Amino acid sequence: MSRIVVVGSINMDLVTLAPRFPGPGETLLGSRFLTAHGGKGANQAVAAARLGASVSMVGALGRDAFGDQLHAGLASEGIDLAHVARLDDEGSGSASITVAASENQIIVVPAANARVTPAQVEAARETIARADAVLVQLEIPLDAVEATLRLGRALAVPVILNPAPAQKLPAEWLGLASYLTPNQHELATALGEDAHTDFRELMRRAPCPVVLTRGGEGAWYRDHAQPEPAQQPGFAVDAIDTTGAGDTFNGALAVFLHEGLPAAVRKACAAAALSVTRLGAQGGMPWQPELDAFLADRSRP
Ligand code: RIB
Repeated sequence: MSRIVVVGSINMDLVTLAPRFPGPGETLLGSRFLTAHGGKGANQAVAAARLGASVSMVGALGRDAFGDQLHAGLASEGIDLAHVARLDDEGSGSASITVAASENQIIVVPAANARVTPAQVEAARETIARADAVLVQLEIPLDAVEATLRLGRALAVPVILNPAPAQKLPAEWLGLASYLTPNQHELATALGEDAHTDFRELMRRAPCPVVLTRGGEGAWYRDHAQPEPAQQPGFAVDAIDTTGAGDTFNGALAVFLHEGLPAAVRKACAAAALSVTRLGAQGGMPWQPELDAFLADRSRP
């Protein structure tokens, strides 16, 4: 069983379904509203747990109603929450999400997520030392992200840095990551490069191995052993909601990394494809038997 540690955000997603995205100053009538458990860190933790990993999370929640619900949700997925702080003087993170024609627009209010500290990461040292892989994203303070990258390097535990939401990052940090998992926009932003540069060229310029997600088109990947990027095509599905597809991809990638990059990327693409077939970031994330059945079905001649 893979042991995964996720250092990252936990949000309550406030999801509105709409016929299209409103313009500035415009009011639209939506068709449905729901709350759903989310946050890039929590989503990646849930994706990994459903695929059979033993998962520990490092993060922060407010001591409020959303915090209670999110804590209970993660616990019900079997995720170890010993390193998730509960803050008395801050609310839980939230994300206002509009879904229109299966695409989304998201505004995140970090709240408690902005209080995740390097000391919390250090307090999880023993858990991280036993992990097969660590996942970290950019919805928590950058000093906590840096602490995660440095601790992973010191302990020789691979760290997957998912540079989302997009931010420019110091080249030295990128060099500390075992894998960088951006989409094209996030890769260009992280490197401080022109967004119009060909993504394969951006992948060559990155100072660490890159697994680049391309939505429904699948993913490209390049590691040290394989200087030229290779492609894993996407799996065609009927998309309902793409929220959390990247998180599902990252969680699955971490779980299957020990099988080698080509196999892990293929399974991550399949898990991400399944995730978009249901509403909510965590709503469509597959359990292991579901993923196995999907892959067997898609492998038939
Ligand atoms: O990646 C999707 C996630 O981004 C949502 O669950 C939302 O909470 C934001 O963090």
